[in-house]
Amino acid sequence: MTRTVYLNGAYLPEDQAKVSIFDRGFLFADGVYEVTSVLGGKLLDFEGHAVRLQRSLSELEITNPISKDDLLEVHRELVRLNEIDDGLIYLQITRGAADRDFAYPPADTPCTIVLFTQAKPGLAENPMAQTGLKVISIEDQRWGRRDIKTVQLLYPSMGKMMAKAAGAHDAWMVEDGFVTEGTSNNAYIVKNGKIITRHLGHEILHGITRAAVLRFAREAQMEVEERAFTLDEAKDADEAFITSASMFVMPVVELDGAPIGTGKVGQVASRLREIYVDESRKAAI
Ligand code: PDD
Repeated sequence: MTRTVYLNGAYLPEDQAKVSIFDRGFLFADGVYEVTSVLGGKLLDFEGHAVRLQRSLSELEITNPISKDDLLEVHRELVRLNEIDDGLIYLQITRGAADRDFAYPPADTPCTIVLFTQAKPGLAENPMAQTGLKVISIEDQRWGRRDIKTVQLLYPSMGKMMAKAAGAHDAWMVEDGFVTEGTSNNAYIVKNGKIITRHLGHEILHGITRAAVLRFAREAQMEVEERAFTLDEAKDADEAFITSASMFVMPVVELDGAPIGTGKVGQVASRLREIYVDESRKAAI
């Protein structure tokens, strides 16, 4: 089945959706994105993604070209047209096409807005949740505004390749000795029952899954500390895990070739994954 995608107000077969070579997303990575998961044909945390999208756009002085209601409608229509049961919806908004110039084009330049679906049957039953991920540590060499969800993903992409070359699944990035986050996820350790994850700031993306998971953890009377943790602390942790819209809560069992804790999937990560998937399914729209 050919995918139907959304481009600037039109639903099109994917091979007919074309964007200008002058698009600033292409020339300057001048654009932002969101990834929203779909379980059972319903959207998880749509509200959180819509709010973060607005924030990313505002930080870059891009006028949001679409209302929240219309955006929800487009998400639902793409799920319907592509018969997505479990999967992801990718959304990208760029500053649009203009003659190449480092200065932003006039504010009334039409944005480019693109959405497409990725079917991921069994997204919530990922077998990796039973065995856990192996991660390596790499230096965080990204720009300083990681709280803005821009499409400049080259360094995270390089990080993923470094992980693959080392026989691992992903990389945790480290700055001044402290872990920032994973290539495309937020990072957590568990020590003596306490969940520790980096505090919000410009250094990390403010994960929508992170916000939900920390809320569920506190509701379940788990202790949470939002602070930077060192790579050494991570190596000495009882458990570790990551969160993202595509992985939900995913245990991490190995860091730089050494087991974390017992080297097996931990109880805290397993429990949080279960709670997150259950509660998110219930709240999905
Ligand atoms: N990545 N940190 C980074 C650097 C990310 O790219 C992501 C998401 C997260 C987790 O955010 P959320 O919980 O809102 O998905 C943290 C998406 C899934 C991606 O690029 O595919």
